[in-house]
Amino acid sequence: MRKKIVAGNWKMNLGKQEADQLFDGISQQLSKESKADVMVFPPAIYLDRLVQKNDPTITIGIQNFYPKEKGAYTGEISVAQVRNIGATHVLIGHSERRAYFQESNVLLKEKVDAALEHDLTVVFCCGEPLMIREMNQEMTFVRMQLEESLFHLESAQLQKCIIAYEPVWAIGTGKTASVEQAEEMHAAIRSWILEKYDANTANAISILYGGSCNAANAQELFACPNVDGGLIGGAALEVESFIQIIQSF
Ligand code: PGA
Repeated sequence: MRKKIVAGNWKMNLGKQEADQLFDGISQQLSKESKADVMVFPPAIYLDRLVQKNDPTITIGIQNFYPKEKGAYTGEISVAQVRNIGATHVLIGHSERRAYFQESNVLLKEKVDAALEHDLTVVFCCGEPLMIREMNQEMTFVRMQLEESLFHLESAQLQKCIIAYEPVWAIGTGKTASVEQAEEMHAAIRSWILEKYDANTANAISILYGGSCNAANAQELFACPNVDGGLIGGAALEVESFIQIIQSF
């Protein structure tokens, strides 16, 4: 059985007290019977204090890191440091990192390798911009992102990754992909894994949907056979909506 996952990407939001309140609120309201694994990706400066809260029901990951061991990289955080403070997951390939910080498929591959080397679980984001969808090139585009950054891995390594399909035109826009669009892409991603690896691998990997996923649309998206959960931005910043999304399973 593939894992069901709901992950909150807090991006560059929240002050220290707000981050505490959000985390504590989720922690208190999360049912012990939750059908989904719950993850949060807070701003890096809050990671340590949230890890210290020691809540086994919430997995904590970092939004970004630099794929070098250590050294003269002012302002950056290494994977070893992420591991050392007790975070276990990393986001790689988010469209905002690709667009605003020019992260290429080649750099993302390096990040994937560095994270796996340090036994961090990768949440790898892919997804096409609007222009690509309007040209009906989304399948080719997303496949290329996976081929160039992820599909060099061995099956066992790939199984330590979670894939998040996030069409760029749906992120933060309130314009969610339709159930058909989401399922079509998720099924395609799974079929490419099947083609490159095998059925075991294809069936083991959770594929999350992201892009204006909220309490109102999560249930129908999560009901798609190939959608194993969501990567949530805006709606993850409030306890109530995040909990409702988790309860959509
Ligand atoms: P959104 O962001 O839910 O605010 O659209 C999703 C994401 O960027 O991961």
